[in-house]
Amino acid sequence: MTSTRDQRVIADEAIAPQRETPFDLKAYLTARQVQVEAALDASVPMSYPETVYEAMRYSLLAGGKRLRPILCLATCELAGGTSEMAMPTACALEMIHTMSLIHDDLPAMDNDDYRRGKLTNHKVYGEDVAILAGDGLLAYSFEYIASQTRNVPAERVLQVVTQVARAVGAAGLVGGQVVDLESEGRSDVSIETLNYIHTHKTAALLEASVVSGAVLAGASAELQQSLSRYAQNIGLAFQIVDDILDITATQEELGKSVGKDLQAQKVTYPSLWGIEESQRQAAQLIESAKAELDATNPNAQPLLAIADYIVARTH
Ligand code: IPE
Ligand code: IPE
Ligand code: MG
Ligand code: MG
Ligand code: MG
Repeated sequence: MTSTRDQRVIADEAIAPQRETPFDLKAYLTARQVQVEAALDASVPMSYPETVYEAMRYSLLAGGKRLRPILCLATCELAGGTSEMAMPTACALEMIHTMSLIHDDLPAMDNDDYRRGKLTNHKVYGEDVAILAGDGLLAYSFEYIASQTRNVPAERVLQVVTQVARAVGAAGLVGGQVVDLESEGRSDVSIETLNYIHTHKTAALLEASVVSGAVLAGASAELQQSLSRYAQNIGLAFQIVDDILDITATQEELGKSVGKDLQAQKVTYPSLWGIEESQRQAAQLIESAKAELDATNPNAQPLLAIADYIVARTH
């Protein structure tokens, strides 16, 4: 026979799901950003020659959403690891991303004057130093993963280095940027080519961010594969939203120049399909991404919420 007290406990458990406070993404992102900022600041100390270290630190510590490191930390925890195991890789991913932004903004590429609310790297340090600061960040990112990762078997670290290198090279980000530039000013760019651009210049590094965290934690091949599909979907959606924001947002909101895609005659989702249809496609990709996750797992909540944030974001 159950006592009144037991019955009350059973009743409490039954309604517990409705009582649970919803996952607070804003608080989560803020806490993670603070953690990542401190790790990034410590990762590249000033040294001789100061010019290049100053230029590297100028862009690396200029803010930004820190989405790639946060994803890496979140998937490491999802797969049973700790944030300490993933922090060197998380920092390295942000160094690589920052390199890609410094180079993307150069006059030879998108020729932009503002990034993360500040003048672009080459506007402050000159094109020569900006190119070298990007090179310095890229090379150091791999040194940093290899030399700073602790409590992770060496084979996993090697796997991460291989994956991240592939994501940033000609088979990934570099390849996407080349086709992006080659497609400028052309009216005959197909949706297949546009998808190639977006999945390579943007989704590849996001995918490496998501999967590397899981690899460091020793995730099963099955979990790595579903996270990889999650990341490909959010990655494509992320660039579609970036293209939409280039049209709909202000420079103050984005911290970077706006309206540049139209001006440079870039092929984008909105240029092919219009804003509304692009938003619909991005939302659909986010649903597919979320379907890859186990919504009942509390450690999957950050990844579910980040997926929603990617389409809802205003900067
Ligand atoms: C901008 O990336 C470049 C793209 C891949 C679209 P983010 O929008 O993540 O830029 P930050 O890091 O927040 O500045
Ligand atoms: C850039 O895409 C992606 C990379 C930097 C690899 P965009 O050129 O659209 O990025 P933003 O809009 O300048 O940030
Ligand atoms: Mg570009
Ligand atoms: Mg650009
Ligand atoms: Mg853009």
